[in-house]
Amino acid sequence: MRKIYISPSILSADFKNLERDILAVESCGAEYLHFDVMDGKFVNNISFGVPVLKSISNSHNMVNDVHIMIAEPLKYAKAFLDAGADILTFHYEACSNDEEINQLIEVIHSCNKKVGISIKPNTPVDVLIPFLNQIDLVLIMSVEPGFGGQEFIPNSVEKIKYLRHYIDENNLDVLIEVDGGINDKTAQFVIEAGVDILVAGSYIFKGDIRKNINSLR
Ligand code: DX5
Ligand code: ZN
Repeated sequence: MRKIYISPSILSADFKNLERDILAVESCGAEYLHFDVMDGKFVNNISFGVPVLKSISNSHNMVNDVHIMIAEPLKYAKAFLDAGADILTFHYEACSNDEEINQLIEVIHSCNKKVGISIKPNTPVDVLIPFLNQIDLVLIMSVEPGFGGQEFIPNSVEKIKYLRHYIDENNLDVLIEVDGGINDKTAQFVIEAGVDILVAGSYIFKGDIRKNINSLR
């Protein structure tokens, strides 16, 4: 039975009480903390950036799972790594060519951190095949990036199934993470399809955090 990890997205946390919410999800068993960076260019929303990551990355023992939904990821990667990202996940669609993707992999690995690549719902999963033997994580977006609280897009299930099969067939060491609209119902579909890490924001932070986290796996 594959272990399922939980990565609460702090985009849906109470920012008046951010440390309280971070410690709450940690005490309720979350192994990762998902940090959604939005720049208002790559996505139509602006969230938070390096100073906030710097202030929280050492205040807990979860894995700092940083998801940068930004244009020019290569320009900012080092700043997020220095601010405490343990995994830095950039968007395939934000890179102009394979060279830029390879440079990002190089920068992140040279800091001994883990590389994630994310694809949006309309991006075919096979664009990632050439990179799977060099990266540590694939983030399948099950909503259009930019906002929490959106409806789960079902095509992510097929992408996860395809990746699970390809990774297992080729004995690759790549985690599959899914992000967007994850709740107690949609979690079952993606777990069955072969996901390793569940990102959830609005579902976890609304109401009883422990009950919500436990209901996902
Ligand atoms: C969306 C973010 C997601 C989002 C998840 O662009 O990448 O991580 O915060 O929020 P929910 O779980 O509410 O869909
Ligand atoms: Zn995210």
